[in-house]
Amino acid sequence: MELHDKRILLIISGGIAAYKSLDLIRRLRERGAAVRPVITRSAQEFITPLAVGALSASHVYTDLFSREDEQDVGHIRLARECDLVLVAPATASRMAKMAHGLADDLAGAVLLATDRPVLMAPAMNPKMWDAPATRRNLSTLQGDGIHVIGPKSGEMAESGEAGTGRMAEPLEIVAAVVALLSPGEKPLAGKRAIVTSGPTHEPIDPVRYIANRSSGKQGHAIAAALAKLGAEVTLVSGPVTIPDPAGVRTVHVETAKDMLLAVTSHLPADIAVMVAAVADWRVASSSGQKIKKQPGEAPPPLQLAENPDILKTVGHHENRPRFVVGFAAETQNVEENGRRKLAAKGADLIVANDVSPQTGVMGGERNRVMLIAENGIETWPDLDKAEVAERLAATIAKRLNAL
Ligand code: C5P
Repeated sequence: MELHDKRILLIISGGIAAYKSLDLIRRLRERGAAVRPVITRSAQEFITPLAVGALSASHVYTDLFSREDEQDVGHIRLARECDLVLVAPATASRMAKMAHGLADDLAGAVLLATDRPVLMAPAMNPKMWDAPATRRNLSTLQGDGIHVIGPKSGEMAESGEAGTGRMAEPLEIVAAVVALLSPGEKPLAGKRAIVTSGPTHEPIDPVRYIANRSSGKQGHAIAAALAKLGAEVTLVSGPVTIPDPAGVRTVHVETAKDMLLAVTSHLPADIAVMVAAVADWRVASSSGQKIKKQPGEAPPPLQLAENPDILKTVGHHENRPRFVVGFAAETQNVEENGRRKLAAKGADLIVANDVSPQTGVMGGERNRVMLIAENGIETWPDLDKAEVAERLAATIAKRLNAL
């Protein structure tokens, strides 16, 4: 119920996209918002007050000079008794009126009188959207602090014409409303974070490599969660098949050596979270050519060499981030091994998890972790990896800000 207790004044102006506003009302109410609709005269050519009233379970306001409505609430109260004014669709004509402060109808009067945030979802023919007058009106409105969602490109409902002008989808509008009304805290604003994620690939020859079962899901989710709290995040990812997370700068690498280089070249930072399942060993002298099978000969021996320990390097670096987190993927003695790792790697926190095959953690969607720090341990229940990431990001923010 992201919009619990939130009151939205929804102004529906007269365009074909008004039919989508009926769904928008439902979506807003599903999230707990109370929706009070104002529909303009031209909107009533597309949708009826009856439908809007039924879906919103509210009185529908239509006239500036309705004696009944004015005595009931009045346009000033309508403008103030809400947390957000949402104009969807906002037609070219409505945008023009808004830009000039015209108050010759109820919607105009409310928009002029409100001191609440205003979000509009423009919808019009692409030619009208591109018209110089609309461009001017848009920049005036943005300059006035009006928030805008869409329009999108695609085919127009009425003409089949392609171009930009389609109203954003109801769920996108709802997401923009949620973002405006509950922007969330940004305790990591101004902080730089480096996160490693995924496996590494260590070549045997140009076509073969040593790898492991890490999917990158946990590391990528942590990068996204830190970014959501306002951190500037660089994600150094080994080869994975999942997409780069939004709001994060992702650097792709293959080997442990490359990963170390990418990580250290991004220091200094405030936070390091080393989640990658880095291969402990690489092939000492990987072949430049594909190794051939020779009939009658024994298989070639694989000489291994130790890879650099990225976490340990960062944990003891002259530019050591103020908060360093390591992971400990264990199959036995999880706590004991985690504690040992905390000291050896120079980390502030070790997130230990049991990756025995029966847990399904490697490559799976869920994780059960234990947080090991100098001053104690904490065990979390079995959670979705995204939830582990969010909790961990919040813990890091709290710990870092307490340092
Ligand atoms: O020693 P172990 O591999 O169990 O330690 C796991 C932690 O160390 C993880 O945070 C992992 O990302 C990190 N690590 C690393 N470089 C290595 C090996 C592990 O950064 N070569």
